[in-house]
Amino acid sequence: MGFTEKQEGLVKESWEVLKQDIPHFSLRFFSLILEIAPGAKNMFSFLRESEEIPQNNPKLKAHAVKVFKMTCESAIQLREKGEVVVADTTLKYLGTVHVKSGVKGPHFEVVKEALLRTLEEAIGEEKWSEEMKNAWGEAYDQLAEVIKAEMKNNH
Ligand code: HEM
Repeated sequence: MGFTEKQEGLVKESWEVLKQDIPHFSLRFFSLILEIAPGAKNMFSFLRESEEIPQNNPKLKAHAVKVFKMTCESAIQLREKGEVVVADTTLKYLGTVHVKSGVKGPHFEVVKEALLRTLEEAIGEEKWSEEMKNAWGEAYDQLAEVIKAEMKNNH
């Protein structure tokens, strides 16, 4: 079965919740990434520079928002056309920037786990469900596959 309208709705609805406090959820997302994989700190320019995770750092927020938002866009595409398509120039850039930063395949699992845990906290135990988790998980996995393939191909 393909990605359903219901799954798309669940992703969109919870992205609206994250959007209400981007500074907080961006910070939580990065704290969780470093909790799961402390070594990831050295890959991010804005984390290398300081001991603590910087509050209100525009680059940190930008990366968090890109991951949240592109995953949400992937959910829409999966429902509409059954696949994730990233615009050519964006995809090339994503390939380059991640290869250059030393990102490897397993890091995508770390970011997935941090994303799902951030969402769970944002939505709250009562409303968070296996269904919501799977919808985000699938949209993220398919996006990650597209980025990883580009990283392998041309960089
Ligand atoms: C940079 C998106 C996964 C590490 C970027 C940039 C984008 C992006 C758009 C360019 C800079 C920006 O706009 O913030 C994504 C998306 C991902 C993903 C959509 C997954 C679906 C990952 C993973 C890692 C990672 C798994 C490693 C844990 C980085 C690093 C940079 C970067 C180190 C350079 C940022 C800097 O040092 O300033 N990413 N990314 N990304 N990404 Fe990702």
